[in-house]
Amino acid sequence: MKAAHINPALYKRYAYPVPRYTSYPPAPHFDHHIQSEQWGELLAKNEEQQPQAQWSIYVHLPFCDTLCYFCGCNMIITHRPERVNRYLHYLHREVVLWREQLPDGHLVDQMHWGGGTPTHLSPEQLKNLSDHIHQFFVFSPQAEISCEVDPRGLSFAHLQALREAGFNRISMGVQDIDPRVQQAVNRIQPLSLTEQVIEWVRKLGFHGLNIDLMYGLPFQTAESFFQTVQQIIRLRPERIAVFHYAHLPAIKKHQSLISAADLPNTEEKIRMWLQTIDALTAAGYIFIGLDHFALPNDELSIALHQKQLYRNFQGYSTRAGTHLFGMGITGISQLPDAYAQNEKTEQAYFRSIDAGQIPTARGYVMSADDIKRRDAIMQIMCHRQIDKQAWSTRFALDFDQYFADCQEELKQLANDGLIQVNAQRIEVTDIGVLFLRQIAYVFDGYRQSSLKPVYSASL
Ligand SMILES: C[S@@+](CC[C@H](N)C(=O)[O-])C[C@H]1O[C@@H](n2cnc3c(N)ncnc32)[C@H](O)[C@@H]1O
Ligand code: SF4
Repeated sequence: MKAAHINPALYKRYAYPVPRYTSYPPAPHFDHHIQSEQWGELLAKNEEQQPQAQWSIYVHLPFCDTLCYFCGCNMIITHRPERVNRYLHYLHREVVLWREQLPDGHLVDQMHWGGGTPTHLSPEQLKNLSDHIHQFFVFSPQAEISCEVDPRGLSFAHLQALREAGFNRISMGVQDIDPRVQQAVNRIQPLSLTEQVIEWVRKLGFHGLNIDLMYGLPFQTAESFFQTVQQIIRLRPERIAVFHYAHLPAIKKHQSLISAADLPNTEEKIRMWLQTIDALTAAGYIFIGLDHFALPNDELSIALHQKQLYRNFQGYSTRAGTHLFGMGITGISQLPDAYAQNEKTEQAYFRSIDAGQIPTARGYVMSADDIKRRDAIMQIMCHRQIDKQAWSTRFALDFDQYFADCQEELKQLANDGLIQVNAQRIEVTDIGVLFLRQIAYVFDGYRQSSLKPVYSASL
């Protein structure tokens, strides 16, 4: 099926804001204050239930050199080395606090450093932080260890330090290669620089490279973005993420540096997105879901094929990731039935660590209803189907009865050709794959909530 053949009116009708379901419930609903002791109890309960569970670690390194006007990440622009040093000092202490609270005998199977720009740190700082973590946690030999990098300001020595520290995947921001677009978003990154960094990544033997692109940026047209996509295809990264830029200057003040008049309109963005799907799939990339594409021999594509795909705060993953420990400001942690998020400001984060506590600001303990809904939502997001009978067996309930109030919407989705429903299962169609979030949203128990979080629009 060619995405370009999809009726744009249908696409537009389903382009309402919906969560990305990196968790369920989505993070804006983490409203309870989870005390350190409560985490302790939850960890102890999980230890009893899953003593062999493998762990994931997320480390948030928020610092960047310059502001990209579109940025929606939790980042801090700084040129003060003492600010970075202070943060690292506390981050090192947080690693120790976690280790003191966690049981022995578990292996770390996945670690991701995100930001901001982790490679804002010097190669030596990167190495020291990695050594420190390895001193307190044991990694499995097959662990997937990845880091986000920004080619601007990146040296061969940075990548060498990461490789020597055991990192095997690199994720790199590119966004758009058109100089006019780069100028408008304050991110000058010549293609030759991106190519140079990719050459280093390959030379150093990283197993996987991901490139981030964005559509919906100022001055982009379907034709200009097509050129960007073609250039990136030529570079053959194992994974490509194509994010939609949601312009929300009321929430991210600096986005008002982008003039709304320079942004492409909805019709143009639909063209960009649908033609990107076609270009990437024609070039051999597999559409994993949402905004992710991977080459057929990449772990993500294999996991999709084998129905072994998972979704956690880092997006799609091949690792179960139900025990995730997030370190650094805004870091998110996950246990099978609870979530927690770290303090957002450096001051609150430092204060908590000074008090000898894991710097949790808020969290969420899932209800029995949440767990059933999450199961249905993640089946759609990862496996593109819900086996209703298997769900009914898992929860000793009747799926259709439990979700009786969803039947009307499911019927509408089926009428629009996005799903097929029979007694055994709900299956996402080829067109429906473009609307996974909207299909999953049917099962979201928080959609009527008085809390009105702002999710990025899918268009
Ligand atoms: C933390 S950054 C990646 C590493 C590095 N800081 C960089 O920019 O190269 C994560 C990615 O989020 C995406 N991103 C940032 N702001 C966004 C926004 N407002 N909407 C959609 N995607 C966004 C960009 O594609 C960016 O590469
Ligand atoms: S997009 Fe990346 S480099 Fe740019 S400000 Fe955001 S986190 Fe920093």
